Amino acid sequence: MKRTVRDIDLKGKKVLVRCDFNVPYDENRKITDNRRIVAALPTIKYLIENDCKIILCSHLGRPKGEVKPEFSMDIVAEELTRLLGQEVRLAKDVVGPDAKALAENLKSGEVMLLENVRFEPGEEKNDEELSKKFASLAEVFVNDAFGTAHRAHSSTTGVASFLPAVSGFLIEKELKFLGSALENPERPFMAILGGKKVSDKIGVIEALIEKVDVLMIGGAMAYTFFKSMGYEVGNSICELDKLDLAKELMEKAKAKGVKFMLPVDTKIGKEFDPNTESKTVKYTEIPEGWEGYDIGQETIDLYTKELQNAKTVIWNGPLGLFEFDQFAIGTNSIAKALADIDAIKVIGGGDSAAAIEKAGLAEKFTHISTGGGASLEFLEGKKLPGIEALQDK
Ligand code: 3PG
Repeated sequence: MKRTVRDIDLKGKKVLVRCDFNVPYDENRKITDNRRIVAALPTIKYLIENDCKIILCSHLGRPKGEVKPEFSMDIVAEELTRLLGQEVRLAKDVVGPDAKALAENLKSGEVMLLENVRFEPGEEKNDEELSKKFASLAEVFVNDAFGTAHRAHSSTTGVASFLPAVSGFLIEKELKFLGSALENPERPFMAILGGKKVSDKIGVIEALIEKVDVLMIGGAMAYTFFKSMGYEVGNSICELDKLDLAKELMEKAKAKGVKFMLPVDTKIGKEFDPNTESKTVKYTEIPEGWEGYDIGQETIDLYTKELQNAKTVIWNGPLGLFEFDQFAIGTNSIAKALADIDAIKVIGGGDSAAAIEKAGLAEKFTHISTGGGASLEFLEGKKLPGIEALQDK
């Protein structure tokens, strides 16, 4: 167990908080999904209530150690100002003279934001000098950036060596829900895994085979499993170098007594276009020249029926090309089916979280992770360096 902001005397102190404000935005630099910013508010508000002087920091995108205005945190500062109802001033630099001056002059309850930590070349190298500079701004370090906890960078792990370091409420919540679902699940425990590639999910599939009772597969990775069983998959995404692995995973599941479910039908399209001609066929009968983009209705019914018995469900990865409406039916239908069942339902972040938000079903779930890569690594059972670096209780 890691110490949290509750376990340390913060009253009136200067606190550096690493958040994951890496939010999507459009070509007009308008934030299109502010969930990660909203998720950071409980910790920030707690610090305000405790009269702290609050220095927030995060990365946005991948500017790769260069100052690039299109990756400025200005849009985040504006959104935070709006959400908190108080001004959040943005420093012109990360650990330079402007950041230092603003930090020095902060008053109790005031909040500022550093510029994009990835403007600093040392950030992703976990450079010690940079870590010390971060630490010199504050008296306590709080990490609440669950989405970046799988990165060992200066602002996520390095700085924790030079200040008392505890977690915020978001990291605490993520560990509670993802962790308890994995460690102590009410059974039957089922996992739904989607996404493009088997290779992205090998670790998760292997880890979950050890824990779940039922594993349901969807998304493009299903075609690799079908190909490994000797079926043709047309133009569908398929990893020919992972066929043996796909077979091995199915054998492992069988040996462990895990019910390994593959789709029985698929909605296929002629080309990668939202309005392409489409039809539904059996998975084993995908014609040449067509590409699979979604699970079909029979699969939706089959998975929905199975889910009625679940007591715990973890879902990671969309079940089809949900960005195109006609191929979002599988993902949306399973989201709706899950919304209606009475079980612990945890969404492992990334695209499946976005799909649930888009369908307006978020409040029907026990927990929707703010992590993409981080929740995947957590589900794989890997240690996350951003969390390891924090003080133990
Ligand atoms: C994410 O969006 O998954 C995190 O913010 C980490 O971003 P990164 O993959 O650029 O490190």
